[in-house]
Amino acid sequence: MTHTAPTALPDLLIALRAALGDAHVLTEGDLSSYEQDWRKRVRGKALAVVRPGNTQEVAAVVKACAKAGVSVVPQGGNTGLVVGSIPDTSGTQVLLSLQRMNAVRAIDADNLTLTVEAGCVLQNVQQAAEQAGFLFPLSLGSEGSCTIGGNLATNAGGTQVVRYGNTRELCLGLEVVTAQGDIMHTLSGLRKDNTGYDLRNLMIGSEGTLGIITAATMKLYPLPAVSLTAWAAVPSVEHAVKLLGLAHQHLGAGLTGFEMMGQFALSLVDKHYPQLRVPLWQDTPYCVLLENSDTESEEHARSRFEYLLELAFEDGCVTDAVVAESLSQARNLWHIRESITLAQAEEGLNIKHDISLPVSAIPSFVANTDALLKREIEGVRIVNFGHLGDGNLHYNVQSPQGSDNKLFLQTQEDRVNTLVYNAVKALGGSISAEHGVGSLKVDTLPDYKDPVALTLMRQVKLALDPQGLLNPGRVVR
Ligand code: FAD
Ligand code: MLT
Ligand code: ZN
Repeated sequence: MTHTAPTALPDLLIALRAALGDAHVLTEGDLSSYEQDWRKRVRGKALAVVRPGNTQEVAAVVKACAKAGVSVVPQGGNTGLVVGSIPDTSGTQVLLSLQRMNAVRAIDADNLTLTVEAGCVLQNVQQAAEQAGFLFPLSLGSEGSCTIGGNLATNAGGTQVVRYGNTRELCLGLEVVTAQGDIMHTLSGLRKDNTGYDLRNLMIGSEGTLGIITAATMKLYPLPAVSLTAWAAVPSVEHAVKLLGLAHQHLGAGLTGFEMMGQFALSLVDKHYPQLRVPLWQDTPYCVLLENSDTESEEHARSRFEYLLELAFEDGCVTDAVVAESLSQARNLWHIRESITLAQAEEGLNIKHDISLPVSAIPSFVANTDALLKREIEGVRIVNFGHLGDGNLHYNVQSPQGSDNKLFLQTQEDRVNTLVYNAVKALGGSISAEHGVGSLKVDTLPDYKDPVALTLMRQVKLALDPQGLLNPGRVVR
């Protein structure tokens, strides 16, 4: 909890301007891109938006804020989906944008690492890696605007996790500004370092509540010789899971993507972006997008991929399929998948979920929860899609056709969340697989997280940020 005397605020602004220069301490004009969340559900009000250009400036901002007892909200690309990166409505928080810190500091080809500043946009990190002849595999629909600092702070997932893991698995070292304004220099390209507690992994996924990430050393991989993409119609979720098993068995480490999309989710893309020409969706309850990356050759990849699909047809897992013949066709198929979020936003507000379960539990979860929701709320529409290869579904709930989305959210959100999360808990799952907790789920978490784990989390927060100045009200209260 912070206690800020209003008289301290003008002094703080003077200190911030002295540290960063007037141009990088914004207090007026249109600040909506910093103050509003991506889904446009919440709008906050900052005391000031500060835009430091280097790590020392981040440290100076945090020190000045700590002295004034003012809290700091770090922000990268502001694409987070759990209302974690915007200020509250008090007008007393400093919003610290990392966007100016966007340099690629180094690429070490022999060590297969790249060191980047936190505000680097993910797509630029991918491009820097590719220009050096490597792959940086993290890939999300928001990659054109999210930042690597935000990806680390949320431990983002995305569409390549089935092969390369979450952002956590891709990170070897961090540079962090602590809640006291000190700089923790642990940028390291080491793959082995057992010298005590793993502070890097504590910072990753902490959503700006334990420290401000200013730079990171990330792993690189060899570029595959080819990546093939297939879009398959599957008759049920059970069949999609069976197909996943076959893909693991026959592609091994070549399986780099496995996404499932329900018919209603695809119908929204078809409705709002007809130019994308969604294939196969009308005659099947689910489609699956598979990617096979191969380090040998296109011929090798195609023969393995075609063999897998043959087996899947024989087993009845797949009823129809399209294999992209060119890079542009493959990109279009991925673009369809990544447009579901935007198509949903066009359709109107919805109740968003980001749940994970053991893959084996997903068919029964979907069958039982679909039936339960349809029984409880007549005409409810379920936008089910996600990273099936990781056991992670975006099991979203849209209001009945023709009804008022806003009213639906106001009256049904808590009830729907309880139904869905109780079903997830009963099957040993998580209520936040990849988007984090933010402020959207902070009050729900205690009902679903192990109480001892939650107590330890609170103790960690207290130890690292005793004044409660870093992104208060997010993750834990
Ligand atoms: P922000 O939104 O700015 O911040 C997110 C959180 O991190 C906040 O709590 C903030 O305080 C903190 N933070 C930001 N930068 C720092 C820093 N340098 N140091 C400390 N804390 C910091 N997420 C997935 O996991 N998988 C997906 O597939 C995916 N797809 C998406 C598709 C779309 C269209 C959209 C809009 C979002 C998607 N997301 C996805 C969610 C979002 O893009 C990710 O959470 C992303 O990692 C956020 O990065 P950001 O830079 O925008 O962070
Ligand atoms: C996705 O997988 O597309 C993202 O996590 C975004 C979303 O859940 O809408
Ligand atoms: Zn996702």
